[in-house]
Amino acid sequence: MTIKKTIAIASAKGGVGKSTVCSYLATALSKSSKVGVLDADIYGPNQDILFDINDKNIELDKKNTKRPYTPKNVDNISINSLGFLLDKNAAIWRGPMLSSAINQIYEKTNWGDIDYLLIDMPPGTGDAYLTVCQKIIPDYVILVTTLSKLSIADLKRSEQVFKSLNTEILGIVLNNVHQSDQLKSFCLESENLILDRVEFNEKFIDLVYPFDDLELDTVFINTIKAIKEHE
Ligand SMILES: Nc1ncnc2c1ncn2[C@@H]1O[C@H](COP(=O)(O)OP(=O)(O)OP(=O)(O)O)[C@@H](O)[C@H]1O
Ligand SMILES: [Mg+2]
Repeated sequence: MTIKKTIAIASAKGGVGKSTVCSYLATALSKSSKVGVLDADIYGPNQDILFDINDKNIELDKKNTKRPYTPKNVDNISINSLGFLLDKNAAIWRGPMLSSAINQIYEKTNWGDIDYLLIDMPPGTGDAYLTVCQKIIPDYVILVTTLSKLSIADLKRSEQVFKSLNTEILGIVLNNVHQSDQLKSFCLESENLILDRVEFNEKFIDLVYPFDDLELDTVFINTIKAIKEHE
């Protein structure tokens, strides 16, 4: 089993589009690479909904004692989620339990040989971030933000946290934005690279896999290029 690159998709602010970006980006990348998705959002795992996975039981391969969890397979995208592993009480778990659950699902899943493992992070900057950055150690993180004042304030916190954890930031995906002077000044002032800009799209609201008519390769053209060029 080999994972060539692990990429966290993160934002301190909730609801800005991490899970949406993660599933769309995974789908776009899967056209040319082998991709896995780890839903590490203990408080509200969503990848099962986005990828329209109805069977939430995790499959166990008892012969593989090291990595018994078999990820779900959606058109060759391997998906595993804390939501499959944990009961509903998990949402009130404290830090150490949360950290060990994230670590466990990462380590015990037989991801196969994949090029990219995308980790859909929970909102915040707490224990989940420490676990992912210090135990899983992603190669880099992609930050997601909208242009709202509050989201930008939280983006700055995310940048600080990843900096202090020595996790490289590949760049920022701006979600729910349109061309504007505010966008121009944000891009000028940003200390990190702006990868792609995703517009508000009403279709996203109830959309589940397959995301056929979204032309995701063009939506994430710079992000995919940056990922592929990153050594
Ligand atoms: N560009 C967009 N246009 C329209 N709706 C969007 C867009 N991006 C995200 N959404 C919608 O906004 C909501 C929040 O998105 P999402 O769940 O991906 O955010 P999140 O950052 O993962 O949230 P959380 O912090 O709770 O995990 C969802 O209902 C999603 O469909
Ligand atoms: Mg989410």
